[in-house]
Parts: sequence; C-alpha cells; structure tokens
Amino acid sequence: MLEIKVTKTTTPKAKPDENNLGFGTHYTDHMFRMDYTEGQGWHSPRIEPYQPISLDPAAMVFHYAQESFEGMKAYRTAEGQVQLFRPEKNAERLQSTHERLCIPTIPVEDFVQAVKALVDVDCDWVPSAPGTSLYLRPFTIATEPHLGVKPSATYEFIVIASPSGAYYAEGLDPVKIYVEDEYVRATPGGTGFIKCGGNYAASLAGQMKAHDLGYSQVLWLDGVKRKYVEEVGSMNCFFKIDGVIRTAPTVGTVLPGITRMSCIELLRDWGYTVDCDTRLSIQEVMDAAHAGKLEEVFGTGTAAVVSPVGKLYYEGDEVTVNDGNIGEVTQRLYDTLTGIQWGVLPDEKGWIVKV
Ligand code: COI
Repeated sequence: MLEIKVTKTTTPKAKPDENNLGFGTHYTDHMFRMDYTEGQGWHSPRIEPYQPISLDPAAMVFHYAQESFEGMKAYRTAEGQVQLFRPEKNAERLQSTHERLCIPTIPVEDFVQAVKALVDVDCDWVPSAPGTSLYLRPFTIATEPHLGVKPSATYEFIVIASPSGAYYAEGLDPVKIYVEDEYVRATPGGTGFIKCGGNYAASLAGQMKAHDLGYSQVLWLDGVKRKYVEEVGSMNCFFKIDGVIRTAPTVGTVLPGITRMSCIELLRDWGYTVDCDTRLSIQEVMDAAHAGKLEEVFGTGTAAVVSPVGKLYYEGDEVTVNDGNIGEVTQRLYDTLTGIQWGVLPDEKGWIVKV
C-alpha cells in the first residue's frame, strides 16, 4: 500500500465547457508522481498541483525513448458515482511494456491505488455530459542524464487526467480507413505489442498520408509480408465476415487492447463465433466486401470505445461497409460497453472498480 502525500492546489482552474471538451486538450488541477531510483525502488508517491516537469536535457527519455504509457477512463454514473473500467488490466499491460523496455515494473495494486487517488482528488473534474469521461494517462519516463545506451537508473511515473469527449470528431459516425501498404507499424520481435510512444511516432507518416488523402485512420498490415491486417492507429480492428467475427491475433505485433478483450468476451457470451487466432489477409477482406459478405468493420480502444468503419481503401480500391451505416453488432457492443462503463447496465462481469 502506497503512502501518498497529497498537496492540493491553491489556484484551482476554471472547468471547461462539458459540451465542448474535444479529446485530450484540458487537464485537471493535480497529477500523481512517483520516482524510481536504482537500489531504492519506487518511492515518494505524491499528488501535486498539475505543473510542468523539469528534466535534465540529457534525460534518457529524450534520446532513447525509454518511455511507456497507458490510456484509461473514469466515468460518472447518473447517480454521481465515479468509476473505473478494469484498471488492473491497464496495470498488467504497463508491466509487460516495462518488461520489454527494461523499466522496473510497478505492482498492480500500487498502479490502481495511484489512479484511484488522483481521480478521487480531482473527482469534480469527471464530467457528466453524455459521452464524456475523465481520460487518464499514466506514463513512465527514463530520467537519468546519460548519453550511453543502457537502461536508465532513474524513472518517474506520472498520471495526468483530461476531461474528454469523443476521440473521433465523427463520434459514432463511420470512419474512413486507409490500408497502408508502404510504411509498417510493427515486426515480430519488436515493440508492437506494448504501449510505448515510439510506436506512435513511427505511425505518424502513414497517418499524415492517410489524412492528406481524406481518410481518418490507417489500417496497418503485418510488417513482413504486408498481407495480414493488424491494427488501426489507435484501435484494434474487428471484421464481421459471413457471420464470423475476426480480429488479428495478439502475437507480438498487435496491442492487446482491453476494449478488444472485453468485446471478445461479450461477443462470445452472445453466441457469436469470434476468431482471434487466425490471421486475416487484406485480400480476404476486400474479396468479402466485393462478394457482399463484409458485414461490419469496427475498431475498439479506450479512447475510441467502439467505432464503426464505413469505408476501406486498399491499393486503388475503395469499398463501403454496410452501406456506410453502423452495423448491428457494432451498435450492440457500443451500447453494452458504454452502458456498463457509465453504470446504466449492471456490471455482471465484475469489470467496474468504484473510486
Ligand atoms: C487509448 O485508446 O487510450 C490510447 O492510448 C490510444 C491513444 C493513442 C489515443
């Protein structure tokens, strides 16, 4: 159990308009911080006023990108209660990111306690307008000033919070996806399965190209054959083909999304066949679309929740999914997940942790 020292701000900020939050642009009054020093472990857990952090220009995070992050949300129910969705899963995923990047891990219970403590201090910042939540961004950075390539001897773990609305400007309107066949996001043995900033930095060129061509996100293909679908920029991706729901296996190059795993559980409970073990080629997807068998495509993610895909562009061919409408399964998943998260539906799975 962490002994968290709390120093409250003496200059609270004005809260933003809940009906016009956007995503990730406003920050609460406080932040959680904890340091790591070799020989001493993680120490000095504290909540402080939100403020800039001061780092030596030689801090290793700036040079070798030894950095990890998570994305999660706190939701306000109609009764005013604040709650988290499967926070221990974020803690476990952060541990696997840390292991891959040679960063010392943080115990699951300490991570959950830190997040709950920050949300508790900033609970007035959890918005209540429909579709809004307090987006939480836990992250770890390597702070040792050193230019040799090695794991840092010191780190800082920080949690910040941002009252946010929908990730996509489109909301629940189907998004247009560009299937990228030039750049790659991940290769076997690399870092595709963890949440580190470098994965997202490397995705920007493809993302900009897609934007310039009028698409909002990129669907990445595998990095070896450029043949199999993997994931979309900020989401895992599901395809309903001829009644069967398919998504890329998380075998080292795909992020094991918490929304992904929750959707798979729900779909199986509802009796759908979900294949998340067999790789799916982009050609199968395009062929299914042309044969009228590509019934639904949707992305899942913490920020994006469940987002319908309306169009897919691949090598000169653009196909429309479900006549550009949100599909039945996509809508049901969205309604069920958000219903559980905002406390409208009963938490039969035990996924909710109250703050
Ligand atoms: C999330 O869904 O929480 C993510 O971390 C994706 C992000 C890059 C916005």
